[in-house]
Amino acid sequence: MKCINRTYVFIFVLIIHITVTVINCQRYRPAHGGSEYSHRNVKEKIIWCTVSVEEQQKCLNFAMAVERDRIRVGYDYFEVECKQAFNKDECMMLLDEEKVSLTSLDAGQVFVGGRYHSLVPIAQQVADGNMKHYYAVAVVKAGADNMRDVHNIRQLRGKRACFAGVGTMAGWVIPIYTLMREGGLEIIDCNNHVKSATEFFGPSCAVNSLTDKYNPIGDNSDKLCRICTGKVPGGKCTDSDPYAGFEGAFRCLLETGDVAFLKHTTVEELTSGIEFGAVAKDIFELLCRDGSRRPIHDYQNCNWGDVPLDAVVTTSATPPETRKKYQKFLQKAAEIYGLQGNGSHGYDNRDRGGYDDRNRDEYDQYGNRIRYRRQTFGDFGSQNNNNRYGGTGQSDRFDQYSRSNTDPQNRDRDPYNQDDRDRFNQDNRDGYNRDPYFQGDNRDSFNRDPYVVNRDRYGVNIDPYNSDPNPNRDRDPLYHDNRVNYTFNSFTPYNRTNVTYYEVFNLFESSPKYGIHGNLLFQDVTRNFVALSENQQTFSGFLGDSLHIILGVRQCPVNHMTLCVTSDPELEKCIKMRTALKAQLLKPEMRCEKAHSQINCMQKIRSRVADVAVFDASDVYTAGLNFDLVPFISEIYNLGKPEYYVVAVAKEADPSTELTYLRGKYTCHGGINTAAGWVYPLAYLISNGWIRPYGCNSIRAAAEYFTKSCVPGALSTEYNTGVPYDNLCDLCHGASFRYCRRDASEDYYGHTGAFRCLVEGGGHVAFVKHTTVLENAGGHRREWWSRDALIDDFELLCPDGTRAEIQDYRKCNLGVVKSNAIVTRGGYDYNETEINAFINVFLYSQTFYGRKSADEFSFSMFSSTPPFTDLIFQDSTQQLKIIEPNQRYYSTYLGNDYMRARRIVDCHAGTNNVQFSAINILVSSILTIILSRYLSR
Ligand SMILES: *[C@@H]1O[C@H](CO)[C@@H](O)[C@H](O)[C@H]1NC(C)=O
Ligand SMILES: *[C@@H]1O[C@H](CO)[C@@H](O)[C@H](O)[C@H]1NC(C)=O
Ligand SMILES: *[C@@H]1O[C@H](CO)[C@@H](O)[C@H](O)[C@H]1NC(C)=O
Ligand SMILES: *[C@@H]1O[C@H](CO)[C@@H](O)[C@H](O)[C@H]1NC(C)=O
Ligand SMILES: *[C@@H]1O[C@H](CO)[C@@H](O)[C@H](O)[C@H]1NC(C)=O
Repeated sequence: MKCINRTYVFIFVLIIHITVTVINCQRYRPAHGGSEYSHRNVKEKIIWCTVSVEEQQKCLNFAMAVERDRIRVGYDYFEVECKQAFNKDECMMLLDEEKVSLTSLDAGQVFVGGRYHSLVPIAQQVADGNMKHYYAVAVVKAGADNMRDVHNIRQLRGKRACFAGVGTMAGWVIPIYTLMREGGLEIIDCNNHVKSATEFFGPSCAVNSLTDKYNPIGDNSDKLCRICTGKVPGGKCTDSDPYAGFEGAFRCLLETGDVAFLKHTTVEELTSGIEFGAVAKDIFELLCRDGSRRPIHDYQNCNWGDVPLDAVVTTSATPPETRKKYQKFLQKAAEIYGLQGNGSHGYDNRDRGGYDDRNRDEYDQYGNRIRYRRQTFGDFGSQNNNNRYGGTGQSDRFDQYSRSNTDPQNRDRDPYNQDDRDRFNQDNRDGYNRDPYFQGDNRDSFNRDPYVVNRDRYGVNIDPYNSDPNPNRDRDPLYHDNRVNYTFNSFTPYNRTNVTYYEVFNLFESSPKYGIHGNLLFQDVTRNFVALSENQQTFSGFLGDSLHIILGVRQCPVNHMTLCVTSDPELEKCIKMRTALKAQLLKPEMRCEKAHSQINCMQKIRSRVADVAVFDASDVYTAGLNFDLVPFISEIYNLGKPEYYVVAVAKEADPSTELTYLRGKYTCHGGINTAAGWVYPLAYLISNGWIRPYGCNSIRAAAEYFTKSCVPGALSTEYNTGVPYDNLCDLCHGASFRYCRRDASEDYYGHTGAFRCLVEGGGHVAFVKHTTVLENAGGHRREWWSRDALIDDFELLCPDGTRAEIQDYRKCNLGVVKSNAIVTRGGYDYNETEINAFINVFLYSQTFYGRKSADEFSFSMFSSTPPFTDLIFQDSTQQLKIIEPNQRYYSTYLGNDYMRARRIVDCHAGTNNVQFSAINILVSSILTIILSRYLSR
């Protein structure tokens, strides 16, 4: 027997092991190709995500160049594929799904990608002079009439602004942040800074301001799209709008805007490009943060902040070795296909001489791709001597390489020709370790690099990063004779007669080669890549100081909101909700506070220990009457308005129970002083004379009329200051301290608890909400107590003594009562800013978490983890609705029906009782404090 068991266990473990292995293998296959290092010549596939036809074209050229030149890292050959997406957002999703492997992102987008799509930056683009930053600037037209009155950035209010796009760093985040801090841009909506910007500016263009990500509730005005010029539908105000991106923002400024938020390079780049070549750059000037104006080139002294250059990102699922290979590949590609010039002041690399001009007309007339195919390369070759990228002679080219790449004393080192001895010698000398191919050194972090390991294992004494990148091109006759030449200078005009259009490839060249747009795949100013170390491979690690600016535009005047709950299961749900809201960066930040009762919550809110709580109508009454709290958001169930019907439910098999004669029956109530469980039924029974009122002592009235009940809270001195009646808790179910508690720890608390008391606890009648039976019977719950309960097993008891089907609650009920509501401080402490911030965070959280989700791993506001129900919010809630300001008073909200019912049940005595008990608690706590102080002396 034991032996068999063991065999089973063994087989089971084996199966699991195999499954896990298979799953793991599949997980990494799609985007990264093989990642086995033990074989030589593994092909590593990179799928690059592009966002335009031009970019796709450049990417395809890149792919062909890589294939032609057999670029490899270590023993792995690289293969590039290109996938065109609609925009960077789609790229991020494709990356997340591992359908593509790399793309480059603006610093602002790195945040979005990291935050919402778990993307990680692996390399940063670096411009000449090892520049890793650029400046964010505000550009205006010199002497524009509209801007005459702007002497201070506060006066940008109402102007027509051109943004590169919501979420971009220089083109959105920095200007908005700066204006929030220094320009008087008020925060209108803590969770949607687009709305705040909308209030500040006049008609503007900020593409994507109406997309879901930046318009979660869908109520953004179109003001920030109004001057965009894209085609409707689909094009306007999206990434395909002519005013999208930095180029688009520049165009927008030129054509209609008053101010554009650009990179410091944008004006320079575009006014020396094809499309805007005729525009003189001196018609623009910079608007500084202090309101002064400066010439375009003075960006060092007149910018709004600096921004890290774009990053290349992949998904966090990419294993570290693969990331490392990508980094090597990028650096190698920059080395081989980079522009080898020095770019005198770092950013102006537009001196392409006659090349641009010569082709301009031809370009304009034809589509770019066609033009390029038709280009005569012989011509190109003859221009080469004028081209600063080098003449055709080998020594020439070599010189250039040395100049741009190494110190003067290194000039004699051919980076592709080092042999081991060479390296070894240089190893210990200072200043020679900057060779980009010499990173396989055992001392650094690449110590465990598989290539190094391979090298050791195979005894092949070559540094894989140092080898000829094109070792065996002889497969393809076209390249046969030219590989060395190509290696040194991609501009070498080898065999011009039969080349295809992709022959000359430059990684950082965009226009006019592929069209009018610049910055394809990478920024045109890029010269190289720096590999980000492992601890920088997160959006926060990469962004560093820029992160607080990105988070800064999401700041909120109200920092946090503390939700008061009354039981451990609720506390647990509250903490989950807090985490979920945090994940969406929703503000104010939520906190949780557990109190021992609803009344205790009211005290805590009054004294600012907590801010909000979700209350039953009757608690809204108490909170308003005794603690000056006001309801400001209500739940909506299935009626479309914030109301529900109070119904009395009995078993179909028990025809002897009827509403007009419940004497001696066993009754189930959601809780003492709850609207459906107490106030409405008692008001009915008392007002119809069925039970004796005992001078408004409804507790005594009920205790003497019913034989046994479960009325959670009936023994609590907070709710019953009079004589305790034990029979009011006799049917309750909770063990030990949970017994008869007026919170989720008592099994028979609340609407569902009262129904459960009817189903399994011996009750004859339960007073509940009209949705309760439908929610819990008929297989809607999996708990054993409700498993066999069918909806038809139950009937409604009507006030006239008849019975009705459960679904007929509209005709057979004890009255309509207002939904549960969220309350906060009112009266003298009513604070509009605070309430609006609270409303805001609840409305946003329901857009993220309001749907009933079948997925048990994601948080859902309106459901509770079994066996619990109605934690914090009622599970039957479909949405939350704002209570209009003029309704935010307890008696106004609750309405006349409730107030009348309450008077019948409580008269003035009941009211005073509660008040009394509250004062009691207050006095006793003050006494406690005084006493404890006294004692501690
Ligand atoms: C960069 O190129 C310019 C001309 O294009 C030249 O005057 C300058 O000396 C070069 N700088 C370096 C560091 O090679
Ligand atoms: C490299 O180019 C030079 C001149 O263009 C040519 O003479 C030489 O043969 C080429 N080298 C190879 C290996 O093709
Ligand atoms: C170009 O390649 C073809 C075939 O590979 C060859 O016949 C021709 O001589 C080459 N031309 C030049 C200029 O190298
Ligand atoms: C060059 O291309 C032309 C036309 O495509 C073709 O006829 C010719 O044979 C090619 N020459 C070589 C050497 O491949
Ligand atoms: C309202 O609340 C905000 C944020 O807590 C606070 O800054 C402001 O002073 C309050 N306003 C009043 C009138 O108390």
